[in-house]
Amino acid sequence: MEEIKSIQWFPGHMTKTKRKIISQLKLIDAVAILLDARIPYSSCNPDLRSIINNKPRLVVLNKCDMADPAETKKWLALFRQKNIAALALDCKTGKGLNAFIPTVKNVLADRIKAWNSKGMTGRTIKVMVVGIPNVGKSSFINRMAKQNRAKVEDRPGVTRGNQWFTIGKGFDLLDTPGVLWPKFDDPAVGERLAFIGSVKDDILDTEQLSGRLLEYLRDNFPDSLCARYKLNKEEIMPMQGYEILEQVGRKRGMLISGGEIDTERAAAAVLDEFRSAALGKLTIDRAEDHQDVRI
Ligand code: G4P
Repeated sequence: MEEIKSIQWFPGHMTKTKRKIISQLKLIDAVAILLDARIPYSSCNPDLRSIINNKPRLVVLNKCDMADPAETKKWLALFRQKNIAALALDCKTGKGLNAFIPTVKNVLADRIKAWNSKGMTGRTIKVMVVGIPNVGKSSFINRMAKQNRAKVEDRPGVTRGNQWFTIGKGFDLLDTPGVLWPKFDDPAVGERLAFIGSVKDDILDTEQLSGRLLEYLRDNFPDSLCARYKLNKEEIMPMQGYEILEQVGRKRGMLISGGEIDTERAAAAVLDEFRSAALGKLTIDRAEDHQDVRI
């Protein structure tokens, strides 16, 4: 099956957001980059590095409840090896959230020391949260805020509409001003974002997308795929995605009048089930394939 080529983003939004982020960098001390633990590479905006320039940063691998824990460990090790603080979180249950504030303080240790020596003890630490749509920014901020009895505040000198959240004594989060779209020259990146549901399905051909996903699963996680849909590994190996999709529909008894397979319904089921980790905790971007990742 052909790769999905038609995923389009909106460079207009991107330019505006870039400008906003750059203009707000002076208000913050560090940037928390939220990535999807299933696709830490594909969910990372490649322009971010130049946008945030030399601001202290940390990587947050969110949705780790849906990623392979062994792979998440490898990703954390890879970032740390590059001297980038990284932690894994799950905003559904709140697992890992407690490590956030200490990690930021660790990243800013030298600055905090300098503040203290200038008598600025207890200076509020401000962190901007960035990440592509759907990565869990609102969930993260809400969780952190709730956990620490949040208060949304308007701050003097800050444009209206900015969202500051106090998440602890002397600790504020700034929600991203605008939408940070991913940019991808590599069609595989777009496809992976679509697999996890970061690209709205109404602009995609779901049968084609699920066909591609089935081919991907067959090549990378054949056992999970076959177990879920009771497929025969040898049988599906030479098949095209669409044929595997038909097999899934047949196994599930998804038929339309005349006995034809309802591939549209089968496609929706495959995508839904993959996105809710019903096929297991699967990480698509593997750390060993992205040793050169830069943030
Ligand atoms: P955004 O602000 O970055 O756009 O993302 P948002 O917080 O809206 O989260 C997008 C979706 O991801 C939401 O699901 C949210 O519940 C889910 N999500 C966020 N963090 C996690 C996580 O750590 N683990 C899992 N499994 N899911 C997470 P939704 O289906 O859009 O909404 P809802 O069903 O939660 O209402």
